[in-house]
Amino acid sequence: MWNSKLRIGFIGDIVGRHGRDIVSWHLQNLKKKYKIDVVIANYENASHGFGLTPKNSKELFASGIDLMTGGNHTWDKKEIKSLLDDENSLIIRPLNYPQTAPGKGIKILEVGEEKLAILNFVGCAFMSMCDNPFIIAHNYVQKLQEDGIKNIFIDFHAEATSEKRAMFEILKGQISAICGTHTHVGTDDLVIEQNTLYLSDIGVTGCRDGILGMDGSNVKKQFLEGIKIRHDVPKNCPKKIMQMLIIDIDDGKATDGFKIKIYDKNEEIITQKAFFEE
Ligand SMILES: [Fe+2]
Ligand SMILES: [Fe+2]
Repeated sequence: MWNSKLRIGFIGDIVGRHGRDIVSWHLQNLKKKYKIDVVIANYENASHGFGLTPKNSKELFASGIDLMTGGNHTWDKKEIKSLLDDENSLIIRPLNYPQTAPGKGIKILEVGEEKLAILNFVGCAFMSMCDNPFIIAHNYVQKLQEDGIKNIFIDFHAEATSEKRAMFEILKGQISAICGTHTHVGTDDLVIEQNTLYLSDIGVTGCRDGILGMDGSNVKKQFLEGIKIRHDVPKNCPKKIMQMLIIDIDDGKATDGFKIKIYDKNEEIITQKAFFEE
């Protein structure tokens, strides 16, 4: 495990100040402790639960994140356009948004001697109209392989586990890892099959004392009254959680993986080891 060529850390939806805070408390130590080469994180809820501001992007990079992926909330803060349009941007958005949308949905990072391609897609269920993520992912992965890039990671930002699982079935054996985001609820199906690591959803990093990282009182009111209410990140949040997936890759193949959870300022716990499927 420790001898892999590339060790990736992946954090899912970071929600608001509480999510940014717990990442800032722990990430640098975790990078050292687990010898993580590169950290990818999903930013779509990082600024007060909706989108990402330039100020908060600086804060997250300073905490140790190397590249950030997005989702359906990518566009919620208008200031993100300048971040996405920057030629050297380390912030991407889902690749299957129309080509007219700002930014890119793929980034190839040089990590030591290795090249790592990171791709970001949104699913179709309960999302704005986007292009078919399965066809686009399939075509991009083929092109990357033709270009000799073997280390490939996908953040598939989708509501339906069926879509996530289908993406895995389409791409397994061709990419290093695929992890889901968006639901904010972690799943326990971490597996490595045909050298590809898969997890349906890594789960939220933020406040755990509410509903999906948001203040529970407004969400409860909405469900009880049936009238849509603006959701907010809780003002105070004594109960925070950070969840991170750690993936080992050697020559494009996932060789091991595990998930850690951290509650508040406590030591981390390892909740799942990847199961090796034939
Ligand atoms: Fe989210
Ligand atoms: Fe989302």
